[in-house]
Amino acid sequence: MKPLTFTLLRMLSDGNYHSGTALGQALNISRASISNALSDLDRYGLTIHRVHGRGYRWLNPVQWLDRDQIRGYLAEDASAIEIEVAEIVESTNSLLLQRAIDQGASGSRFKQVLAAELQTQGRGRRGRIWSSGLGDSLTFSVLWPSQRAVNALSGLSLAVGVAIVRALASLGMQNILLKWPNDVLFEHSKLAGVLIELHGDMLSPGTVIIGIGLNFKLSDTTKDQIEQKITDIASIARHMPDRNQLLAVLLKELIKMLNIFELHGFEPFVKEWEHYHAYQNKAVQISFPDGTVKNGIAVGIAPDGALQVNTSAGIVQLRSGEISLRGLTQETSAKHQ
Ligand code: BTN
Repeated sequence: MKPLTFTLLRMLSDGNYHSGTALGQALNISRASISNALSDLDRYGLTIHRVHGRGYRWLNPVQWLDRDQIRGYLAEDASAIEIEVAEIVESTNSLLLQRAIDQGASGSRFKQVLAAELQTQGRGRRGRIWSSGLGDSLTFSVLWPSQRAVNALSGLSLAVGVAIVRALASLGMQNILLKWPNDVLFEHSKLAGVLIELHGDMLSPGTVIIGIGLNFKLSDTTKDQIEQKITDIASIARHMPDRNQLLAVLLKELIKMLNIFELHGFEPFVKEWEHYHAYQNKAVQISFPDGTVKNGIAVGIAPDGALQVNTSAGIVQLRSGEISLRGLTQETSAKHQ
């Protein structure tokens, strides 16, 4: 999507008609350039109506992310993190990871967040694609220069799940559950996912990139791209939260969690994680990376974040692989989200 398209979309964000002449005059460009920049946007899930004699109207305008508003909602926490909002990037995780690699040890020792209105190559866990459309999700990554050695970060992705549930609960959203290791679910449908990537040596402090994709108000185009059961904030919130406020509340909970994790690791979050666990004490099927499967009962979580499953061969500590609830068709083979 071109910068001109973003400029025009911002001008159309009020949902009113704007004539091609007025838009052209404001930007000092031809009506043909406008028509060109606003064509073919339905592939992003955007509906622009063009009515002869009236002009252009954006039928489903998004609420744009705004750095100042996010900082305002963060209040006293605004000084704890640098905030950057991008219009379009391939992947916020890839960009921050590259930044961490380029900057090396001399890089910023300050937490940073990069949020994007549109990701063109969003990545999920296990090589999957993370699908989202312009402004229909929150897609952001936090760069955290951790004091902990890379090998002392186990369980972090689960703690991120706890922070997300806390944030949503503080905005009145109940019954949000977690699926090991870090899917966020509502009634068995995926609401958010977490992708953690690390840069550094196993034994020394490293940089952590925490990527979060949260379905906000998915367009039909985005929904059609996703191969598993999904939901979004618009479907579950009684009062639709402001998108900037939602991001700020998530960041507040992430900062709080990271400060505790930095000192104590995952242990302080174990009980709460189990409380939110969608499959606690339920019959599950474990799918191992080598393709084998095992059945058992998910009995809990270890302080290092391993899922404990009681099988016929005793307790199995699961550190990689996927689990699904027995009897429920799950997304283990899905390639998207
Ligand atoms: C998953 O459930 O598979 C994890 C999804 C993580 C998606 C987020 S969106 C922001 C960040 N940038 C990416 O490319 N991926 C993560």
